[in-house]
Amino acid sequence: MSFSRMRQQLQERASAHLLRTPLIVDSPQDVIIRSHSQKLLNFASNDYLGFANHEASIAAIKQSADQYGVGSGASHLISGHQKPHAELESALAEFVDRESAITFASGYAANLGLLQALAQKGDLIIADKLNHASLVDGAKLSAADSLRYPHCDLAALEKRLKQSPANKFVVTDSVFSMDGDIAPLKEIARLCQKYAATLVVDDAHGFGVLGAQGKGCTEYFQLDSQSVPVYMATLGKALGGYGAFVAGDQILIDYLRQFARTYVYTTAMPAAIASANMANLNTLKSNQDKLKNLMSNMHYFREQCREKQIRVGLSHTAIQPIMIGDNAQLIALDEKLKSCGVLVGAIRPPTVPKNSARLRVTLSASHTKEQITRLVQIIKQSLQELNIVQPSS
Ligand SMILES: Cc1ncc(COP(=O)(O)O)c(C=O)c1O
Repeated sequence: MSFSRMRQQLQERASAHLLRTPLIVDSPQDVIIRSHSQKLLNFASNDYLGFANHEASIAAIKQSADQYGVGSGASHLISGHQKPHAELESALAEFVDRESAITFASGYAANLGLLQALAQKGDLIIADKLNHASLVDGAKLSAADSLRYPHCDLAALEKRLKQSPANKFVVTDSVFSMDGDIAPLKEIARLCQKYAATLVVDDAHGFGVLGAQGKGCTEYFQLDSQSVPVYMATLGKALGGYGAFVAGDQILIDYLRQFARTYVYTTAMPAAIASANMANLNTLKSNQDKLKNLMSNMHYFREQCREKQIRVGLSHTAIQPIMIGDNAQLIALDEKLKSCGVLVGAIRPPTVPKNSARLRVTLSASHTKEQITRLVQIIKQSLQELNIVQPSS
């Protein structure tokens, strides 16, 4: 093993202001968290509905651990598939109006398993350029060829679809994780039908956020299982738990249960986690106020930024990007915000393209308007004090 190569690559990251370290959080995930005895107003979590620390799922996880213990002990197809897994899969399928669903240990695992199993040698994966890393890696793991198209560019997508006679998969995030913008799924689905391609949608940031009932992008765009035959979403973001699922026709789910390697060859998520996910799903179904609060917070945040002349990318979801551009400036801004008691995602390459470092503000239904006002004031003041001028586009 070449330690000198590792040392050199770490050094390169550090000198480009790209080194990242985890913050040690000493509290539950919530709108206020604690780190090294400092309280931080949290605008950096994907816990969009405030379910990560919800009393119903805390009670469910405790009760389920009493009943089923901690570990699942094996993979799903050996002896790890317990009753809470089966109940969760049925409930998720019903909620998103699909015949069946299969759970995975994480969204990353789901996307790897999904693309590896579905897209085979001789097939072609056509993917949005800004798709999440797990979809990029899933395409690499599959034996299919893959191509990317410029972000949400329908003409470019159609050109690629037209060019290849292969069996094709179009793969896209519904809500892009670093920009918060929504893919034009209706048009993408129409193109897929026109060119007989299978549409695979990752709704990690749409599930629990989009649609009147929070069912996600398919509810928002009114797309049935013919239009979006392969629907994937995560359980660790709006649902506040952990894991992921794929939903679709029974045949798809039966197939993935046999052939998705990240399902077959891994230990099942603990049953208690499945029970917590189920409790949060029930809370989502019975509590539409959370969704309304989230949307109202999103509008309020954008209004406050407009008033203070802070440029925010065009997004109608919980993810609100404030473009900075330069890595060093973003780090200085991030440190300043932390010193003022505010935590916001400071996103740099390689997560986003070069020269597009940004603050990724994530909103929760649990934030108050006062907390949002304070956030925007502190960002404005910090930009001024650090003489940071946002790029014009
Ligand atoms: C669009 C998208 N897909 C997949 C994932 C991976 O999900 P998980 O964190 O459950 O592995 C993420 C989150 O990080 C994501 O943003």
